[in-house]
Amino acid sequence: MEKVFEVHDLSYTAGDKEILKHINLEIEKGKYITVIGPSGSGKSTLMRILASMISATSGEVIFDGKRIETYEPTTYRQRVSYAFQQPTLFGKTVRENLNFPFEVRNLEFDEGKVKQYLKMVNLDESYIDKSVNDVSGGEKQRIALIRNLIFPPEVLITDEVTAGLDVENKTIVHEMLQQFNQQGVTILRVTHDESEIEASHDTITIKDGMVQNV
Ligand SMILES: Nc1ncnc2c1ncn2[C@@H]1O[C@H](COP(=O)(O)OP(=O)(O)O)[C@@H](O)[C@H]1O
Ligand SMILES: [Mg+2]
Repeated sequence: MEKVFEVHDLSYTAGDKEILKHINLEIEKGKYITVIGPSGSGKSTLMRILASMISATSGEVIFDGKRIETYEPTTYRQRVSYAFQQPTLFGKTVRENLNFPFEVRNLEFDEGKVKQYLKMVNLDESYIDKSVNDVSGGEKQRIALIRNLIFPPEVLITDEVTAGLDVENKTIVHEMLQQFNQQGVTILRVTHDESEIEASHDTITIKDGMVQNV
């Protein structure tokens, strides 16, 4: 199987705190991996490193055969997308947020496509012109997810994105992620959710900054 990520002896230190310790990992292309482990164990730190938002203190991350540092950041973000635990919408309207993926690609806003995506996450088209102040936390989370997926990346990293959602909207997100995974998007999802953990086929456990052997 082709590897999308190879992590070799990766450590991350902040001050005198060793947050990640000598991590070795291989992620196969096309998988849907669930990342679990206690709060504070280093899951988000590892995901931020894989998303190239922060750099490891030592060791290396190979993405698609090359070291992560060799990629141009804008290109890399289009290939590896990170959905935050606490999503933020910027600017004034939902439209600005959903236009952003088009803007960075020098494309015209495709309203039809955006409506289709909104529908996928159970939001009607009136959301396009809502103020970012008038959408709830759960709605923000789903709008942010559309921002990640409207041009599907090769890898989507989700960091506890369903934590603030009710059962119905969790299901919507699960179906959406499943669908993109079936279309070839590799997914790494961090979760504490018991039902999500139970439904997982592949898991990685992080504890005290180390990968637990399975
Ligand atoms: N930049 C930083 N400086 C100091 N401590 C940090 C920094 N980033 C994360 N930490 C600490 O590292 C540990 C791991 O954090 P995190 O990766 O967010 O864990 P998790 O996502 O598993 O809950 C926590 O104890 C956190 O407080
Ligand atoms: Mg976290």
